Amino acid sequence: MFGLDKVDLWKWVDKLGDPYPLIRPFLFMLDPEDAHELTLKMLGFGLGPHFFGPDDEILKSTVFGVTFPNPICLAAGLDKQATRIDAFMGFGFGSIEIGTVVPLPQIGNPRPRMFRVAGAKALINRFGMNSVGVKVFTEHLEAWHKKKGRTTNPLGINISKNKDTTDDVADYITCFEKVAAYAHYVTINISSPNTPGLRGLQERERMAEVLKGVTDARDRLAPNLPVLVKIAPDLTDEQQADIAAVVKESKIQGLVVSNTTLARPSTIPDDLAKEDGGLSGPPLFGPSTRLLSTMYKSTEGKIPLIGCGGVSSGEDAYLKIRAGASLVQVYTALIFEGPLVVQRIKRELAQCLRRDGFANVSEAIGADHKA
Ligand SMILES: Cc1cc2nc3c(=O)[nH]c(=O)nc-3n(C[C@H](O)[C@H](O)[C@H](O)COP(=O)(O)O)c2cc1C
Repeated sequence: MFGLDKVDLWKWVDKLGDPYPLIRPFLFMLDPEDAHELTLKMLGFGLGPHFFGPDDEILKSTVFGVTFPNPICLAAGLDKQATRIDAFMGFGFGSIEIGTVVPLPQIGNPRPRMFRVAGAKALINRFGMNSVGVKVFTEHLEAWHKKKGRTTNPLGINISKNKDTTDDVADYITCFEKVAAYAHYVTINISSPNTPGLRGLQERERMAEVLKGVTDARDRLAPNLPVLVKIAPDLTDEQQADIAAVVKESKIQGLVVSNTTLARPSTIPDDLAKEDGGLSGPPLFGPSTRLLSTMYKSTEGKIPLIGCGGVSSGEDAYLKIRAGASLVQVYTALIFEGPLVVQRIKRELAQCLRRDGFANVSEAIGADHKA
């Protein structure tokens, strides 16, 4: 269009002004899940942003042996079926995490299962890990892998178990074995609040079993592939200490902190607060960042952490990094701020780093604990 390629066109859109505030009212007239599906369709037609770097050098880092062009990444749950990898990477993310995928197809909970809390720019969801199952998921991955010109930024794959399984550990191993060849890292999800009993896998012995099962499979199949664990923000002090102990004894490479919360702070109106499910967005920022900080301290800064929960600005991302995050993930901000929020977060983060005299993002990791 007008002699510009898509990358140049989006650079101009980014400079001239964000069109999302004009589009959002129409999307918000739709049921949240319908809006989500429409967005995936539009992305499938190539209508999303095309920000494929290069990124500001100050944002580049290597975490658990993998190089990330910038630390702002997509959280799990938006591309559950592995069909929009390049489209989401085009938002400017340093990496995206796809899934959660489970071994056998499952439809999740009945609709409605996603709610906007407009005043708090938050979401409540109880999808219940709807998934095409790992067979179809890997067929999508294989097709993507063969594509010319596909993105080469790191890809994370988030795995879990079927709701009705009789063998939790075997489910994680099945998923791991199928997706390992496509992933730059794999995240074990034991923290979604909408699968009955899943969070019970965060208990000391059960968690150790899952981690051992998956890391043994990793050592056999793909010895250099980092394995991470995603935890919930709703943990007692004792549970937090147990997790830190298990992680230190295990052969995993990192933690994602955190999933959505079951808490309902006073900013959530009563009619929505009563909906079952996990809350995400700004109300989660404080609790998830406090947990991140605790995990950084209790693992002595030796285990890379991905900070996730309520990030919608460069300052938010910077606070996560200072609290101990090596990378930062975003989900809910995309719904309320639109896709250009990723470019904005990266710009603001680079400004924060320069303002405070850091030569690169890695220098700022855990800075609050060193000050
Ligand atoms: C609609 C929705 C679906 C999600 N699905 C998943 C999922 O399948 N697996 C997962 O590990 N986390 C899932 N999450 C949690 C996010 O990955 C993230 O941990 C959480 O939303 C906090 O980040 P945010 O405040 O930036 O949204 C989902 C979140 C939302 C809002």
